[in-house]
Amino acid sequence: MTIYNIEVNGKTHQLDVAGEMPLLWALRDIIGLVGTKYGCGIGQCGACTVHVNDNPVRSCSIGVAAVAGQSVRTIEGLADGTNLHPLQQAWIDVDVAQCGYCQAGQLMSAAALLNKIPQPTDADIDAAMEGNYCRCGTYNRIRSAIHTAAGFVDASLADEPPGQKRVVV
Ligand code: FES
Ligand code: FES
Repeated sequence: MTIYNIEVNGKTHQLDVAGEMPLLWALRDIIGLVGTKYGCGIGQCGACTVHVNDNPVRSCSIGVAAVAGQSVRTIEGLADGTNLHPLQQAWIDVDVAQCGYCQAGQLMSAAALLNKIPQPTDADIDAAMEGNYCRCGTYNRIRSAIHTAAGFVDASLADEPPGQKRVVV
């Protein structure tokens, strides 16, 4: 069997698996990173979104062989050590999550968006996030949190605690 080298969150893993094994399986069951979630398994819900070379990818629908030699980032690698990614802080400030199941995928799609468009419009956000479904209906808070992370916080409320800040949309 072929050995596949995959860099995940800066660390190289040698995977002795079938090349068609979904990346999601390898992340969760072999590498032990269970932050990335299984939803539909057919590339339709976005729960399993990770970055491959900084692009958002549905990890349920891409095989290990297809990402060999490439750089994968999961939700566990989004923070910089103990420093939360701005989106993670904004998610807390805006209190986005309800059940939370979809949120790792939402955050990874949002992070890929901000990498490309640091100050996105509502239309940019809707286009980037339309493939990430949330059964709890947190879409408006997700949009607000992305704007918060991008710095679109009402300057008149700058002295208020983060959780009290309103977002200009
Ligand atoms: S589990 Fe991958 S897109 Fe739904
Ligand atoms: S927060 Fe429950 S599915 Fe999105």
